[in-house]
Amino acid sequence: MKRSVWLALAFSVASMAAAKQVMAQTKKDTSAMINELISKMTLEEKVHMIHASSSFTSGGVPRLGIPELVTSDGPHGVRPEHGRDWNLDNNSLDSGSYLPTGVCLAATWNPQLGYAYGSVLGSEAAFRGKNVILGPGINIIRSPLNGRNFEYQSEDPFLVSKMVVGYIKGVQDQGISACVKHYAANNQETKRFTINVQMSERALREIYLPGFKAAVQVAGVNTLMSSYNKFRGQWASQNNYLLNQILKKEWGFKGLVMSDWDAVHNTMEALWNGMDLEMGTDLHMLPNPDYSKFFLGDTVVALVKSGRFPEYLLDEKVRRILYVMYKTNMINGKPLKGEYNTKAHQQTAAKVAEEGIVLLKNQNNFLPLDRSKIKSIAVIGYNAERKQSMGGGSSQIRAFYEVTPLAGIRNMAGNIKVNYAQGYDIKRDGGANDAMIAEAVEAAKKSDVVIMVGGWTHGFRYDVWKDNAFDAEDIDKVDMQMPFGQNELLKAVMKANPKTVVVLMGGGAIDMTQWIDQAPAILQAWYAGMEGGNAMAKIIFGQINPSGKLPMSFPKKLEDHGSQKLGEYPGDTTHLSVHYMDDIYVGYRYYDTYKVEPQFAFGHGLSYTTFAYSNLRLTTSGKRATATFTIKNTGKTAGAETVQLYVHQDKSALPRPEKELKGFNKVSLNPGEEKTISIEMDEDAFRYFSDVTNQWVMEPGSFQVLLGSSSRDIRLSGKINL
Ligand code: GLC
Repeated sequence: MKRSVWLALAFSVASMAAAKQVMAQTKKDTSAMINELISKMTLEEKVHMIHASSSFTSGGVPRLGIPELVTSDGPHGVRPEHGRDWNLDNNSLDSGSYLPTGVCLAATWNPQLGYAYGSVLGSEAAFRGKNVILGPGINIIRSPLNGRNFEYQSEDPFLVSKMVVGYIKGVQDQGISACVKHYAANNQETKRFTINVQMSERALREIYLPGFKAAVQVAGVNTLMSSYNKFRGQWASQNNYLLNQILKKEWGFKGLVMSDWDAVHNTMEALWNGMDLEMGTDLHMLPNPDYSKFFLGDTVVALVKSGRFPEYLLDEKVRRILYVMYKTNMINGKPLKGEYNTKAHQQTAAKVAEEGIVLLKNQNNFLPLDRSKIKSIAVIGYNAERKQSMGGGSSQIRAFYEVTPLAGIRNMAGNIKVNYAQGYDIKRDGGANDAMIAEAVEAAKKSDVVIMVGGWTHGFRYDVWKDNAFDAEDIDKVDMQMPFGQNELLKAVMKANPKTVVVLMGGGAIDMTQWIDQAPAILQAWYAGMEGGNAMAKIIFGQINPSGKLPMSFPKKLEDHGSQKLGEYPGDTTHLSVHYMDDIYVGYRYYDTYKVEPQFAFGHGLSYTTFAYSNLRLTTSGKRATATFTIKNTGKTAGAETVQLYVHQDKSALPRPEKELKGFNKVSLNPGEEKTISIEMDEDAFRYFSDVTNQWVMEPGSFQVLLGSSSRDIRLSGKINL
C-alpha cells in the first residue's frame, strides 16, 4: 500500500482513538461533575428534584445552579401554556407548528423524514423555553378503537422501531430531550388509569417492547414516560420488572423515568421500583396543589432520615435527572435558542403530509383530477373546513395556522368553481339531517366532481372533548361506524354524482362496507397537520404523486379484527383487567395467519405510477442474509415505492405468525428508471422470543423471504437456509 495511504489510515485511526478518548473523558467529566453536585446537595434539595414543582416542571436547586426541568406536550407540536390550575392560559404567545400526527409520520415509512420532524419539534420546544418534549407516543396500535391511535405509529414493532429513531435523534440534536411514551402496554383508553394488562412474555418482547428498546438503545432517548395502567398486577409507574429489570438493567437506560401525570400511587413502590420523577399528582390536589405533598415529596425526607430508604438510591434518581440536564446543556451551557414556524418548519410539515397521505383506491385511474377538464367541484363535509389542531387531548396545539382541506382545494382550484356544503354536523347523536343532505346533494348535482371529506374527528377542546370525541385521549371509539350520519350522506351524494372522491381523516380504520364499491377513489388523510389541506389538494390534482403506505391494517368490519376475535378488548371493565389473548397475532400477523381478508392490508398504498420488481437474489453468510432485487418505475410519472421485506419461518418449535416485517426501503424513481436495491437481514430478522426458555432463539432451517408492495401484495419471494 502507498505510503500516503498508510499515513492517512494511521491518521484516521489516531483521530478516531482521540475522539473516543474525548468522549470517554467528557463522560467521565460529566459523571464527575454530577457526583460533585450531588455531594453538595442537602437531602431536602434532592427530594425537591424528584417530583413536580408545577403542572409541567420539576424542582431545581437554584443555590447550585440547577434549573427546574421544563416539560411540554406533545408528540406533534408544542402544546399551549397551562396555568397551575390546569386551565389553558389564553394570554401567552403559545401558538406553534402543527405537525401531522404520529400515524401520518409512520405512513411515510421514511425514517429520514422522522429526523426532520423531530428537528422541528426540538427547535420549537427550545424556542418556547422547554427542556423536554413529551413525545413520541409509540404504543402499538392493537385495536382500531383506541382513542389515541392518531398519536401513535403502527401495529408493527419493526416499523415503530425504525420510525422512532429519526424522530428522537431529530429532537435531541436540537438540545432538547425527547420522552418516549407510554411505557408500557397502554393500548386502550378505556379504564386507562386503572386497567391491569396481562400478556405473554412473548407478546411483550416481540410486539410491545421493541419500539421502546430501539428508542433507548438506538436513539439514546433521554427520558421515558411510564404509563397509567397496571402491568401484571403492578402499576407501570412503579413496576420493578418493566423499570428496574428490563429498562435499566437489561437495556442499560441512563436517562430518567418520569410518570405519566398522576400515575404514581405509592411512595415506597415508586422509590424502590425505578420511578425517578413523579409528575402530575397535583391533578388530585386542585385548585391549590401542594407539591411537597407528592408521593415523592417531603415524605421521602422522613423515610431517608429514619433509614427506611437508603440515600444512595435517592442519589441514583437525582443522578439520572442531572444526566438529562447535562445532555440538554441546562447546567453546563445554554440550551439552543430554537425557532418557530419558519419556512423550513412549514416545508417539513408539508413533506410529511404529502408522503403520509395514503391512496387506498383509484379505480381506472380516476385520480389525479385534470383541472383543464373540470369546471366545478363540490366539496362536502364538515371535516373539509374543520380545524383539528386543538383536538385530541394533551397533544392539542394552538396552530399558528392550519390549511383545511377546503382551503387547500381552493388554493389549487384556479378558476374552477368550488361549491361547499357542510353535509353533517358534529354531534354524538347523529349529525347529517335531511336539510344538510339535500344541500349536499344539490351541490353534487351541479358539479362535475365531488370531494367528500369525512371520517373521524378530534374532540374540539380539552375540556369538552367527550361530547364529540372519536380520536382523543381518555376515550375509545364505540365502534368503527363513520359517525354523524356520514354514511347516509355519502350514499346520497354518490347517487347524485358517482364521480365522488372520498377523503377520510382520522387516526385509523373506519367501516367502509356500505359505500366502498361505489367509490372510485379513496384517500386516507389522517390528521395531516397545518399543511394538510395543501397536501391533499396537491395529491388530488396530481402535483404530488402519493407514496404513503398503511402503518396499520384496515379491517372490513370491527369483528374481523384480531383483538376482537381472539380478545380481549377492552377487557373486564368491572374487575379492571384485560388479557391480550391475541398475543403475538396483532394486525396483519392475525389476518395473514388466520386467513382473514382485511379491507386494506398493512403496508398498502397506491401510486399514480406502477413499479415492477425483478431479479431477486438471496445470499446468506452465517446468521445474516441479504436480499438484492431490481425495482423499475414502469409508469409515466415519477414516484416513490416502499418495498417491504417480510420473513416466514417454515418450521419452528413454537408457532409463529405467517409473516413478519423485517426490512423496508423507500425508493424514488423517475419514469423508466430502475435501481438495484439490497436489504440486509441480521439475526433479529429470523429470531423469535421463546417464553419456554425465556430467551431469543434462532432455529436453523429454511425461511421464506418475501418482497412486497404491501403485506398482501408480494411481488418476489425466495427461500434461504440458515
Ligand atoms: C396525559 C397523557 C400524556 C401527557 C401527560 C401530560 O394524561 O397521558 O401523554 O404527556 O398527561 O399532559
